[in-house]
Amino acid sequence: MSLAISANSRKFPFSGRVQRSIDSEQELADELWGRLRREAREAYLQAPMLAPLFVDSILNQHSFEAAIFHRISTRLQNNIVGLGVIVDAFNRAHDESPYLVEALRADIVGIYDRDPACQRFIEPFLYFKGFHAIQTYRLAHWLWLSGERDFALYLQSRSSDLFQTDIHPAAKIGKSIFLDHATGLVVGETAVIEDQVTLLQDVTLGGTGKEAGDRHPKVRRGAMIGAGAKILGNIEVGENARVAAGSVVLHPVPANSTVAGVPAKLVRHSVGETDEESLELVLYGAFDYAI
Ligand SMILES: CC(C)(COP(=O)(O)OP(=O)(O)OC[C@H]1O[C@@H](n2cnc3c(N)ncnc32)[C@H](O)[C@@H]1OP(=O)(O)O)[C@@H](O)C(=O)NCCC(=O)NCCS
Repeated sequence: MSLAISANSRKFPFSGRVQRSIDSEQELADELWGRLRREAREAYLQAPMLAPLFVDSILNQHSFEAAIFHRISTRLQNNIVGLGVIVDAFNRAHDESPYLVEALRADIVGIYDRDPACQRFIEPFLYFKGFHAIQTYRLAHWLWLSGERDFALYLQSRSSDLFQTDIHPAAKIGKSIFLDHATGLVVGETAVIEDQVTLLQDVTLGGTGKEAGDRHPKVRRGAMIGAGAKILGNIEVGENARVAAGSVVLHPVPANSTVAGVPAKLVRHSVGETDEESLELVLYGAFDYAI
């Protein structure tokens, strides 16, 4: 078996904590579904008073995707828009866009891999509102692209009520996204978040209020944005960059570097292949930061 390669040949972060290799999306789906059902049976024995949660959400479902659609829809439903309508929308999105389920599998694996507090897959699946919020966004985004603007905006508003996350359905968000705690997250209409990004609570990816059109941040692959950070304007947070908790970021952040403070300044600058190259890039003003 090869090493953790997904069906579309990208390396999948199903790493250290799961000891077997995954060759295809189908194999990953089967592995996840088996794990989730095992965990649900164990949880049932330990907490029988929560039986309906484990049975309705997992043990009575027929697949990993069906279980997730049911769980998220159960949270989103109310007496205006019922469970069936939301499950049906998820199923339509699933039928037309294989990306949706690839992304939701990558999200749950990403959380399991990157959240030291996450011990089982059942935890994000049942309880983590960051996971529920990103799946609600994924459905809203599909509805938005399909021209179902009102349904998309309704889900944005419902997610904002329930999970305290306000993600515009037009924003473009990649796979393996970890919204830790999620409370207070705001993501603007023209924001882009690439694969494997981690966002802590109370992060804003917003406009400066001075621009129209494409006005929100672009967060590149593998970046981490700390709690309470505000990133304003159409600026780039480079690959694997880190933004310290509480920062206000107004200038692009170089790849592989760390910025902190208000306004944010470069505190770690591994921006070049070598230390000398990094120093040159910083000294000769490649970035708008004083250090
Ligand atoms: C920035 C961070 C990722 C650490 O990155 P790092 O590259 O290892 O940085 P260091 O810890 O070496 O700190 C580098 C400098 O930045 C400063 N710094 C670090 N975090 C800072 C912050 N949030 N605000 C202001 N300055 C900060 C340090 O004091 C240090 O300054 P010094 O060189 O003058 O002593 C980490 O401090 C952070 O903010 N993580 C966010 C985690 C979070 O949101 N947790 C909430 C969980 S609920």
